[in-house]
Amino acid sequence: MMGKRDPRQIEFGDFQTPDALAEQVVSVLKARGVKPASVVEPTCGLAAFIIAAVRGFGSARRVIGLEINADYFAKADARLLNEPRRPVVDLRLADFFSFDWPVVIRELPEPVLLLGNPPWVTSSGLGAMGGTNLPEKSNFQGHRGLDAITGKGNFDIAEWILIRLLEAASGRRATLAMLVKTSTARRVLSHAWRFKMPIERAAVYEIDAANHFDVGVSACLLVCDLGPSPGPTEADLFDLDSPTVHKGTIGYRDGALVADARAFDRLRRFIAEGDGDDALRWRSGVKHDCSAVMELRRVGDGVFLNGLGEKVRLEPDFVFPMMKGSDVASGRVRLGERWMIVPQRSTSDDTSRMCETAPRTWDYLVNHGEALDRRGSSIYRKRPRFAVFGIGPYTFSPWKVAVCGLYKRLAFATVGPMEGRPVVFDDTVYHLSFDTEAEARTVAELLNSADGREFFNAFTFWDAKRPITVDVLRRLDLRGFARACGKESCLVGRSIDTREENGLF
Ligand SMILES: C[S@@+](CC[C@H](N)C(=O)[O-])C[C@H]1O[C@@H](n2cnc3c(N)ncnc32)[C@H](O)[C@@H]1O
Repeated sequence: MMGKRDPRQIEFGDFQTPDALAEQVVSVLKARGVKPASVVEPTCGLAAFIIAAVRGFGSARRVIGLEINADYFAKADARLLNEPRRPVVDLRLADFFSFDWPVVIRELPEPVLLLGNPPWVTSSGLGAMGGTNLPEKSNFQGHRGLDAITGKGNFDIAEWILIRLLEAASGRRATLAMLVKTSTARRVLSHAWRFKMPIERAAVYEIDAANHFDVGVSACLLVCDLGPSPGPTEADLFDLDSPTVHKGTIGYRDGALVADARAFDRLRRFIAEGDGDDALRWRSGVKHDCSAVMELRRVGDGVFLNGLGEKVRLEPDFVFPMMKGSDVASGRVRLGERWMIVPQRSTSDDTSRMCETAPRTWDYLVNHGEALDRRGSSIYRKRPRFAVFGIGPYTFSPWKVAVCGLYKRLAFATVGPMEGRPVVFDDTVYHLSFDTEAEARTVAELLNSADGREFFNAFTFWDAKRPITVDVLRRLDLRGFARACGKESCLVGRSIDTREENGLF
């Protein structure tokens, strides 16, 4: 993981490319058939790419390098002194954002290669440090479709630079080849495909960023070949260290990026329309934002230990067996160990009634009222005291199929009641709710089947912080999928509202 860094290094997103990596990139590009007449390195730092390019691309008649940092510029200049092909290099101490890129690129001989490793920083990261290394506001706001990629408030500088360069090079024979965070590469591709930029062919080569840059993020070499018209909205995936071994294909389908274009194309008939089937709706686990008070371990009959190390005797009414995301993901369930206080059955329930129905639990919550009242999230404002979220009749259904959003593998677990009480989950878990064990087991089997996993894999980018999202889960038309697998009759499909009466308490 990243050690302590100089704030200036952060402001300028400064991660210099090792020479060996720059050489490796150039040789992969050559193997792809890249033979540039001119090369542009827009933020060249210590010139690793400039040197690799002048040595590797004998075809390059012009090589332009820009760098904002005077110290780096001087060092880059010195490094180039003894290069036999120094005369083709035009090194400039300049700011990327002050350049008229369409004009610069228009004047270069074709094919043009835009090569480098732009700053790894976001505008809000800069703002937090008082940094100023940002594009001019007027430029920035006039940029086509930029709101869509920046979400207005925060944006990734590398993403901005790449889109700017792709736009500037559109209409020319050019290749963009840049080292960026994988998430940046995906956003750039998504933007380019959305706006029908003339990318004929694209590829993503994953790199070992921890090894090369000492950072704990997923990073890659993004390659986009520009031509007269757009090609398929797909990019092939490779590892830079095994550049001929095809690992998969990401793509742009129905207005969104998909992680596996082939799987998507094969299984697209199972995509749910609209909001889907309410009785088979994925829900998040319970959100309470106060685990030290609300999550407990049972140490005796009706006696629990909270996260503060306090022993407390509680009525059974509002205490439920719970599973955390890690329990669901690992399948190592030790039911009966963890418990959660769920003071409501719906978010509008008046919790103060507990004072009479479960006075010990009420006293416990009042005694920890300060911690609960301090919960920062606005969702608790104007709600009954001690309110929780992510609850409804589905929380109290006896049978569930659950998956943890934080883990890097798809494993759907069937979870049944314990001691006659429904099991609840923390808010890293998504689940479906059922009345019967048979329904839950059938659905878990369907979701864990090869096609079920492949469907979700088509939408899941495993390097994301929370790879499995409720939106991805909700994309599957479970009833249609069950029908195609000959299992529809196993889904009773009763409205979840009737489950409240049948649910176990
Ligand atoms: C991630 S480093 C990579 C440097 C070089 N491209 C390489 O591959 O080694 C980003 C570089 O961008 C430079 N930089 C940051 N903002 C810039 C700007 N507005 N214009 C030009 N260069 C800039 C930084 O000083 C730093 O050298």
